[in-house]
Amino acid sequence: MNIAVLPGDGIGKEIIAEAVRVLQALDEPFKFSFAEVGGAAFESHGHPLPEATLKLAQSADAVLFGAVGDWKYDALEPHLRPEQAILGLRKALRLFANFRPAICYSELTQASSLKPELIAGLDLLIVRELTGDIYFGQPRGRRDAPDGPFAGAPEAFDTMRYARPEIERIARVAFAAARKRRGKVTSVDKANVLATFQFWREVVTEVHADYHDVALDHMYVDNAAMQLVKAPKSFDVIVTGNMFGDILSDEAAMLTGTIGMLPSASLNDQGQGLYEPSHGSAPDIAGQGIANPLATILSAAMMLRHSGNRAEQALRVENAVKCALASGVRTPDIWSEGTSKVGTRAMGDAVIEALQAQ
Ligand code: IPM
Ligand code: MG
Repeated sequence: MNIAVLPGDGIGKEIIAEAVRVLQALDEPFKFSFAEVGGAAFESHGHPLPEATLKLAQSADAVLFGAVGDWKYDALEPHLRPEQAILGLRKALRLFANFRPAICYSELTQASSLKPELIAGLDLLIVRELTGDIYFGQPRGRRDAPDGPFAGAPEAFDTMRYARPEIERIARVAFAAARKRRGKVTSVDKANVLATFQFWREVVTEVHADYHDVALDHMYVDNAAMQLVKAPKSFDVIVTGNMFGDILSDEAAMLTGTIGMLPSASLNDQGQGLYEPSHGSAPDIAGQGIANPLATILSAAMMLRHSGNRAEQALRVENAVKCALASGVRTPDIWSEGTSKVGTRAMGDAVIEALQAQ
């Protein structure tokens, strides 16, 4: 299996190093190829997604991605900002299906700001459409307003749009995922206001006809944001567009108490995928060796499952993470009284030890 490893910026290098060590401990024929991306690539190549990095990613079976971004790039022109690297990869590799699971580990129930009984045993999956919507819709840009109450004034605009096949394929991904889980899909939209999402609701309902063993309900995004904190366990699979998925997945992440534990997978229809932690580059703690590598290690497990056809190995890694937590080691972001505080490297060691003890 050819794995393109793109550590990126901030804590990216530290957390990726641990995920790679965990993969190496599996003793499988993996080939790792490293390349720069994000701010790091801008420094060395003048672009956040250099041609060579993109080529490497395109030719790999899977991409293991750290994180990109730093405040010091805030003043750069939009197309040179580190975030463009991840958006460019999503587009170039046609990674339309983004899986963001939010799982609350029993050892970490106390880390959530919600009452333990609300989140104990939480296991929901957000399926976010990743290559359409207002993120990529054309036209976009700046101009002088051609009409309206502020005609003639400078304005900026983006375009929210979804084509039928785009909605169909993400709906199918969500229904298929629900079949392997608790059999329930909640489609989140804004059909009370937006034409794009009236169409979304229509198409999702049509696709549902092929999945009658799965239950479907529809929810407006504002209500979904509320239900996520009120009764998060009422959800199984949430399917939604790019923009709403961005926002709701951060909210869902925090239900579990820390974004430091949450992996993600972005897939195309060939099974090729990009795997990254749901959190960012955390420049404030970069280089200190205290970042939590578990989200990246769990992303590597998703890679084994979705792009590597190695479900058994994926489960081994996930179990090793649970064992490491059970042994009481915690990075600072998930530390609580009575557990032992460790750094990035030691957390990686604990997972590898648990793997070897299996
Ligand atoms: C995410 C991030 C990205 C997004 C940014 C970094 C472009 O917030 O993966 O959720 O908005 O999709
Ligand atoms: Mg986001």
